[in-house]
Amino acid sequence: MAAIDNITFRLDQLTSMNTMMVKTLELAEKAAKSNLPILLLGESGTGKTLLAKAIHLSSLRENNTFISFNASAMTDTLLESQLFGYEKGAFTGASQLTRGRFEMADHGTIFFDEIADMSSVAQAKVLRAVEYGEFERLGSEKTRTVDVRIISATNKPLLSLTKTGDFREDLFHRLNGVTLRIPALRERREDLPTMIAGQIQGLSARFNKEIEGISPDAFEKLMDYHWPGNLRELNRVIERAVCFCDGTTILLDNIIMNEEVFSYDQEIKNITQPEEKPSTLNLEDDLSLDKAINLHVNHVYALHNFNKSKTAEALGISRTRLDRKLAGQD
Ligand SMILES: Nc1ncnc2c1ncn2[C@@H]1O[C@H](COP(=O)(O)OP(=O)(O)OP(=O)(O)O)[C@@H](O)[C@H]1O
Ligand SMILES: [Mg+2]
Repeated sequence: MAAIDNITFRLDQLTSMNTMMVKTLELAEKAAKSNLPILLLGESGTGKTLLAKAIHLSSLRENNTFISFNASAMTDTLLESQLFGYEKGAFTGASQLTRGRFEMADHGTIFFDEIADMSSVAQAKVLRAVEYGEFERLGSEKTRTVDVRIISATNKPLLSLTKTGDFREDLFHRLNGVTLRIPALRERREDLPTMIAGQIQGLSARFNKEIEGISPDAFEKLMDYHWPGNLRELNRVIERAVCFCDGTTILLDNIIMNEEVFSYDQEIKNITQPEEKPSTLNLEDDLSLDKAINLHVNHVYALHNFNKSKTAEALGISRTRLDRKLAGQD
């Protein structure tokens, strides 16, 4: 999987070996085919925006518009005009009729990013449009109806915010048809080897480098890190490593974590204290032998600098069988 910003995937192109993420992807696949509103929860950088687009691209609306709308840092009046549009002359400066995001997304999807940052006034304004697809353009009394699928996302504890009165409970229920939680990267470490390999390959090609792999100590450093910035941070660290790498193998020196770059910044240090690494299995984990074998295959693959022939030889299996295992088909 390439580590390129703004790259889009369909749901069937997203894979995971982590039980929680697999469940999230399975639910997303089912929910995508319905018209239910979907609420995405996950820390910053876990891939909420990417998943929202993947859901749209895997839905019956895939050929229609996907509109992303971030309401944070927006005045309530601006939000209203952006979402619902306005007639010519509706306010000073409204020189021509302008359609809003709801109209633009008719038969498609609107993605409300950072939904928890919407002001209470804004929350009240979107409530009816979210539930019934009904709204009026500013300066018009005519009610318009659109057919829009709503996906929203937040990295805040939305349910708790309804309890403290910071987020409208009625809006919460309207957005929350299906809730999908994306685990933090440190909770899905089993996906790291495949992601690291994919990012190195993608970025190496993008920057015209001929990087074939990563040294075991550099790989261990990536595996041991707690990734507070999740996939966004992983992408940046690997982008940096690819940029600094002079040879064909990424070395330990090429791996520079954000907190090393910003080591002077006490605040950053405080929020990135490594948490204890879980060392034992839990009953709710996937305890199957297949899972353990998959993990082992990925580790051996990374240890051999993502060289398939050497990996297959070390594992004592054929190249074809290795390909199937890496694709999760064996
Ligand atoms: N499965 C994936 N494989 C590769 N890259 C990914 C994957 N998921 C997300 N990314 C990349 O990680 C970065 C962060 O993803 P995204 O913007 O979707 O996260 P987010 O949860 O929406 O973050 P925020 O809360 O800050 O909005 C993006 O550059 C995205 O392309
Ligand atoms: Mg986002």
